[in-house]
Amino acid sequence: MSRIILEDVWYKNIVRGVSMKAENGVTAIIGPNGSGKTTILRIIVGALKPDKGRVVVPSRIGSSWQNPYYTFTKAEVIEEFIEIYGDKGRAEELLKTYNLESLKNSYTFKLSMGQARLISILIAISWDPEALVVDEPTNGLGVREKRMVEDLLKNIKIPVVIASHDLDFVLRVADYVYVLSNGRVVAGGPTLDVFYSSILSVLGFPEPYAVLVGRKLGRRLRSIE
Ligand SMILES: Nc1ncnc2c1ncn2[C@@H]1O[C@H](COP(=O)(O)OP(=O)(O)OP(=O)(O)O)[C@@H](O)[C@H]1O
Ligand SMILES: [Mg+2]
Repeated sequence: MSRIILEDVWYKNIVRGVSMKAENGVTAIIGPNGSGKTTILRIIVGALKPDKGRVVVPSRIGSSWQNPYYTFTKAEVIEEFIEIYGDKGRAEELLKTYNLESLKNSYTFKLSMGQARLISILIAISWDPEALVVDEPTNGLGVREKRMVEDLLKNIKIPVVIASHDLDFVLRVADYVYVLSNGRVVAGGPTLDVFYSSILSVLGFPEPYAVLVGRKLGRRLRSIE
């Protein structure tokens, strides 16, 4: 079983002594703008080398970034998947599975932000990686597409690390959460423990509606459905 471990990791003054681990399930990093979330993800995939600390990761990590267009290397969407699978039929099948057939021959650089994000996440998982890193998985996504990404991340059988500002989404999808502030982990643990503690309001994050309702009902809700 692959896993991701960071032990006392430092990078410039951006990441300060971060320790975290991600095994099966979805681990989310939350925190204000500039708190170091993306930097940690870049350290996990090996794009940045920490100044100090220990990083244990599997060799094949799929990733999708804040700017999803970075993922693309081909002109048309379908070509990205043919490149991966070496098989047109399988590539078409994948797009069909996710109801994205209509984007088959779209130019990757012309996709909308939300479409580009979906395709970039699908590319990341299609390489059959041992772990997955997704920066801001819901940015630009419509309600239906968000649900699709939620299902996808919940069902994939490898460690998944996301960085997100979308607390409603994190509450629904994540098994573990780390809260980052100024490059330090200020709280971490099972998602419901973190969200139903006082840490979010202490840090000035508005609590998700489901948490407010959950508190009133005396139940730890993940959503109000
Ligand atoms: N390679 C780099 N060298 C120096 N500073 C950097 C580098 N990359 C990011 N920074 C700075 O580090 C800080 C943390 O950036 P990072 O992108 O990790 O934050 P973030 O938590 O992902 O923010 P956001 O929520 O806006 O995506 C920012 O102040 C940023 O300007
Ligand atoms: Mg970021």
